[in-house]
Amino acid sequence: MFELKERDGLARICELKTRHGAVTTPALLPVVNPNQLTITPKEMQDEFGVDMVITNSYIIWNDERLRLRAVESGVHSLLEYDGSVMTDSGTFQDHVYGDVEVDFREIVEFQRDIGSDIGTILDVFSEPDFTEDEARAAVDETLLRARGSAQLKGDMFLAGTVQGGTYANLRERCAMELSRMNFDMHPIGGVVPLLQDYRFSDVVRVVMASKQHLPPSRPVHLFGAGHPLVFPIAVLMGCDLFDSASYAKYAREERMMFPTGTRFLSGLRDLACGCPACTSTSIEELRAADPEERVKTIARHNLHVSVQELKNVRNAIHEGSIWELVERRARAHPALLEALKALEENTEYLERFEPVSRRGAFFYCGPESYDRPAVKRYRDRFFSRYRRPATKALVGFEEGKKPYSRSYAREIAAISESVDASFIVASFFGPVPIELDEMYPIAQSVLPDTLDEDVVRRMRDVMERHAHGHGYPIAAMWDGVETLEFLKDVARRRRSIDMDMLRCRAVLDMQFGRGAANILDGKEVEFVKSRNTGKIRNVIIDGRHALSMRAYDGRFTLKIEGARLLSEALPPPRMRVVVEDEPAQFAAKGANVFAKFVSECDPDIRPGDDVIVTNTKEDIAAVGRALMNREEMLAFERGIAVRVKQAVE
Ligand code: GUN
Ligand code: ZN
Repeated sequence: MFELKERDGLARICELKTRHGAVTTPALLPVVNPNQLTITPKEMQDEFGVDMVITNSYIIWNDERLRLRAVESGVHSLLEYDGSVMTDSGTFQDHVYGDVEVDFREIVEFQRDIGSDIGTILDVFSEPDFTEDEARAAVDETLLRARGSAQLKGDMFLAGTVQGGTYANLRERCAMELSRMNFDMHPIGGVVPLLQDYRFSDVVRVVMASKQHLPPSRPVHLFGAGHPLVFPIAVLMGCDLFDSASYAKYAREERMMFPTGTRFLSGLRDLACGCPACTSTSIEELRAADPEERVKTIARHNLHVSVQELKNVRNAIHEGSIWELVERRARAHPALLEALKALEENTEYLERFEPVSRRGAFFYCGPESYDRPAVKRYRDRFFSRYRRPATKALVGFEEGKKPYSRSYAREIAAISESVDASFIVASFFGPVPIELDEMYPIAQSVLPDTLDEDVVRRMRDVMERHAHGHGYPIAAMWDGVETLEFLKDVARRRRSIDMDMLRCRAVLDMQFGRGAANILDGKEVEFVKSRNTGKIRNVIIDGRHALSMRAYDGRFTLKIEGARLLSEALPPPRMRVVVEDEPAQFAAKGANVFAKFVSECDPDIRPGDDVIVTNTKEDIAAVGRALMNREEMLAFERGIAVRVKQAVE
């Protein structure tokens, strides 16, 4: 029912299939109040392209007239809507009014019987000001009801809400227990008061504590998040669905939503918006309109802007720039900036989902960019995977034009003439050996000439760490001819450097793990290079095409021959995706590997990695590009885990 299509870290574009059609996520479910249709569901579908709405089953159940109609002809007919309908349970009404008197079983059965596509359990709203004991009681009762409700769902999808107030330990436990039950979706509840108070860093902690313990194969809904301000960061944390009553509520107060904040109509000079609602009127006309008309126009504007921002988010996922979008949006409100900083506590987890490269460049958006998973990953891999060439001296260069091997070509040639040296650049990402200068994200990054002081200080710390452990007998920062004279005195030796070989070894170790470069030992290695760019295209090992280097990210595409060599150099499970034996036979003929057939996977594999597909007996079937990491491959029932590029047969 839920299939991963595209992704950028935890942010993902998926297809959610219900009995009433397919919905592309991330999606916004407008809240429809059956008593008060500011914009009808039909209009939402036609004018806004809304494929799923959410309504409240408790409001229907509690009103005899509505209840009878719903039981008789179903919730779709009640709303005059044939798209997907999700229903909520009354938890929120209990939070607001405190007088919800319905049995948790009865409300789930009611949702099922009125034909809701996705129902919700009657969870217990955990308030942010709850003590830990109160929050624990809310979690325990929610779990008890969850267990009882899952048995009643029938053909309806059922959403099991994570509660736990602001206590990370309770959120984790709640998420873990719910994961083991038969649910189709997991909302994160109890966050509305946090959102209302702009406590976005608390929202980040709550979402991350929950998300990490939910199966990646089930959609996550952020209950009550309806302001476009929070969509990018929430999607970055792996939220797939949102619901919004805000578009209508804000409109009643004549407040207009924008991706960067909210403005009263009375405070605006112009309607600075190109949405159909705003372009069909003028600010003077809108102010002069009768109140009901005005509220409806603002509600339409609010919904347009919200739907539009989710489109921006999906574009960002598509091009691999969700971090850039989040960092840019963080400038809209200090509370969002704070939330982005709170996210840094989770870099290790986020890194596991971060693609290894992308087609677009890494854009620096501010000092927070230094905390992106891609930066941490480069640094970690450099220190744990890279093996230095056996030269006597190391020469360091300042950050310069990219690729470094070209911008420092003259210096490198002059030094290599008479000195036994390796070369490194003190870059934003950390120490970059000259032979890694074309690998993502080094060459594919756009940075300002002047970096923020905070970043410069942190970069210096990393270079210092390197200085203490690099193992070269002699190291010097390049400072012109004097450095050369000094080096000639202490490390004189004529030696021509084979840049292709250096590059090949370094990329192999960085991409596939330390030891991967051993596949070249004692072999005859030939490089086929591009006539236009002079870059390595193919690597021929003992006469066989083993690897190709991609121009856009400087990483290797694995050929079957390369997989054979790598599988000898790297013991299982490294770089392997193990597939059940029968599907492995299809992979061996070139078919893609579906997640449901994956039986094991190297935990170090990341989305975008070139991997070796084997059967359970370690026989190689194919090579291809992983679209998921291990926990996703093992969790998803649908979708492609590895796009096969070359098969053995
Ligand atoms: N709507 C907004 N917050 C919540 C929540 O915590 N639970 C449910 N069921 N609905 C909500
Ligand atoms: Zn507008």
